Amino acid sequence: MKIVMVGSGYVGLVSGACFADFGHEVVCVDKMESKITALKQGEIPIFEPGLADLVRSNAEAGRLSFTADLAGPVSQADAVFIAVGTPSRRGDGFADLSYVYAAAREIAHALDGYTVIVTKSTVPVGTGDEVERIIRELRPDAEFEVVSNPEFLREGAAIEDFKRPDRIVIGTEELRAQAVMADVYRPLYLNSAPILNISRRTAELTKYAANAFLATKITFINEMADLCEQVGANVQDVARGMGLDNRIGGKFLHAGPGYGGSCFPKDTLALIKTAQDYGTPSRIVETVASVNDQRKRAMAKKVVAACGGSVRGKTIAVLGLTFKPNTDDMRDAPSLAIVTALQDGGAIIRAFDPEGMEQAKAMLPSEVTYCKDAYECVEGADAAVIVTEWNIFRALDFDRIKAAMVTPILADLRNVYRAEQIRGKGFTYVDIGRGVMAPDVGIRADVA
Ligand code: UGA
Repeated sequence: MKIVMVGSGYVGLVSGACFADFGHEVVCVDKMESKITALKQGEIPIFEPGLADLVRSNAEAGRLSFTADLAGPVSQADAVFIAVGTPSRRGDGFADLSYVYAAAREIAHALDGYTVIVTKSTVPVGTGDEVERIIRELRPDAEFEVVSNPEFLREGAAIEDFKRPDRIVIGTEELRAQAVMADVYRPLYLNSAPILNISRRTAELTKYAANAFLATKITFINEMADLCEQVGANVQDVARGMGLDNRIGGKFLHAGPGYGGSCFPKDTLALIKTAQDYGTPSRIVETVASVNDQRKRAMAKKVVAACGGSVRGKTIAVLGLTFKPNTDDMRDAPSLAIVTALQDGGAIIRAFDPEGMEQAKAMLPSEVTYCKDAYECVEGADAAVIVTEWNIFRALDFDRIKAAMVTPILADLRNVYRAEQIRGKGFTYVDIGRGVMAPDVGIRADVA
């Protein structure tokens, strides 16, 4: 099949490379000429494990190509995916759909023969209707259908999520479009990935509902963690005790410094706005968003408390800056709020992240000193804080760290270590919601 991805950002590139790997002929389009030039030379603008190899091998095999010209490939395509950005609109938090609608207009002019136009970007309910209206108005003669096909990829595990999805959501009631989408996803069909054929509006809402629910789950366990700290209970055991109930499930119950990233913060805000606009406010999601916002800054207070009540003039080593491991993405990362709050309290910040430092430099105040590894980062520090649970922070040499620090204080905001292990090394150790440690609680498993 001939597929065009409009937008070669995170979603467009991962989906395009994976579709090409299924054997489809894929063209990734982007307005930024510099991005296309780089991609043609095999340079990948984002860090995502496995993506560079996948792009390279499929480009070499001639199944994946890049261009800034939309019209040519669209005129040939069976399916055109809109995978452009939908950032939060300044002021009201509603998703900014201007890129989606601009793409729809350009696609309209280029259509030739029956084409399925698919919104892959996360878009509010009713966007598919508007895309259809725009195209129909510009090209009353064109034969096309607009389908919603939201993505459920996690950064850092996107290729795995694409190739082994829990489900594929196809939002259209048109049988001809359903048949094209079935062909697009046929290789996964054979892996027996469930395909959900539902209405377009339902598909659009499903994506927001899924992200908002996951954000709620995280926020719930974070509140339980706070309670655990007060009552002397262990949140990891509470999560396990809850999660073994199949109706609840154990995933997304890792307490931490609050969720971040390009999706949960933005999508919860957009859902809140939609629900308000339709007169059915989502009070749960409103609360989740505000509790999570406050939590990020509150994490700095935890560090201040561990330092004896003040960080003024103290050096704090921040280990991990990205919103989660295996990505270089800094968008809405808890580290942004934590570092800023610590600086407001007079702290001097040293930081290390394996992939995120370039992006961090653009988003954090210039006074941060960036280091080459964890050991350089803790040199002369009065306290260290694990903000992101990168694998390389899971087996640190604490004798070496203690020797390098002025005072051995560790705030472990991801519960990577066991308290007795670190306290046994002579550290003051604070974690998240583990008032009492069960003897058998090991190092936290990866975020599921
Ligand atoms: C999320 C969803 O998981 C994907 O299904 C969805 O496709 C994607 O958003 C999107 O809408 O594009 P992502 O933001 O990449 O994916 O990352 P997650 O693994 O979901 O983590 C989000 C945040 O929640 C991170 O800050 C992470 O540290 C935090 N988190 C996650 C926790 O604090 N605890 C957990 O148990 C799980």
